[in-house]
Amino acid sequence: MGAGMKVDELMALRAHRERFSAGERVFSAPARVNLIGEHTDYTGGLVMPMAIEFHTLAVLSAREDGRVVFYSDNFKEEASFALDGAEWTRRGHWSDYPAGVVWVLRQMGVTVTGFSMTLVGDVPVGAGLSSSASVQVATAMALLDHLGIEMSLEEIANVCRRAENEFVGAKTGIMDQFVVLGGVKHRAMLLDCRSMEYELLPLPEDVRVVICNSMVKHALADGEYGDRRDEVESGQAVVVRERAGVASLRDATLADLEACADKMSAASLARCKHIVTENARVVKAKTALLAEDMVGFGELMREAHASFRDDFGASCAEVDTLVAIAQRQPGCYGGRITGGGFGGCTVNLVTADATEAFVAAVGREYQEATGIVADCFVCAPSDGALALKAIKKGQK
Ligand code: GLA
Repeated sequence: MGAGMKVDELMALRAHRERFSAGERVFSAPARVNLIGEHTDYTGGLVMPMAIEFHTLAVLSAREDGRVVFYSDNFKEEASFALDGAEWTRRGHWSDYPAGVVWVLRQMGVTVTGFSMTLVGDVPVGAGLSSSASVQVATAMALLDHLGIEMSLEEIANVCRRAENEFVGAKTGIMDQFVVLGGVKHRAMLLDCRSMEYELLPLPEDVRVVICNSMVKHALADGEYGDRRDEVESGQAVVVRERAGVASLRDATLADLEACADKMSAASLARCKHIVTENARVVKAKTALLAEDMVGFGELMREAHASFRDDFGASCAEVDTLVAIAQRQPGCYGGRITGGGFGGCTVNLVTADATEAFVAAVGREYQEATGIVADCFVCAPSDGALALKAIKKGQK
């Protein structure tokens, strides 16, 4: 049930060398789970994610034929692009994620030379654990190394976010890419998506983060995520226009929203209410974490789930069942849906000594209620791609 590494560097190197007869270095990017602060990132809000131990590995070697070739060892499939060709558009294919990173760098004026890249990963896809950001960040790390380009955390995160927004067509915020790059072992990250400043916060040692996959798949590019973002942004535009001193929802209070209630749709009002209350919960969650008040933290997670379900309207029946089952287990402080919504995973904080019984009971009761077998992983905050690269450099 632990989320141990299922892919390793040797496996990635071997796959790449067998196919392309070259390849030296392996770049690694984790997945992420968000503890609290959902759908707040694209309105300059607060989020509290952590990197977790699932990984995408990328190996790259140069090629001389003016082509970029991606090989997915997971799909056992190759996707090829001519650097001077017209095929740099979305295909609705796994290769959109790495190709998008190349496309953004070229949009920025970077000269990209030909290469082959092998990607292999163990991040569950469509589970709300940022498999796409993991692929993009692994791609970017390998590619920047190949091109000899240094960029800051924020710059690389923005390249990957642009790839997601402008090439793949999913209107995500910056949270996933940022924590997949900048996460640190044993720490959750409190990220202010307006200033892009962040703090690293310790989780108490006797608490476990348990992720339960409802097995209901979602994809960010499917449209519902974007619909919610549109509802939020149109509501935000009204509050910014009507209320002095409000530059984004981050500045707004519930009173601001109520004052604008008749100028926006009921849906926008409810979505914005979630954002405003969620930002406040993240602030309180930081205080609770620093005081090691896990009961308080868990209560905020419970409130966050109710807000996401009722005001944001982006949960689903199976996930609500999974959260309700988790929340009544002994030793569970709180649990909620995590990620973009409409399926995927829940995140739960559980006392270490109750974790095994928690996983068994949640699995059994969820199957009884829905007929679905959930995957549960016990996760620890792990290093992001930048720290992983630094460790590798240090090891040499
Ligand atoms: C997805 C997006 C993020 C964020 C979350 C919801 O993971 O990629 O930018 O909006 O959903 O918090």
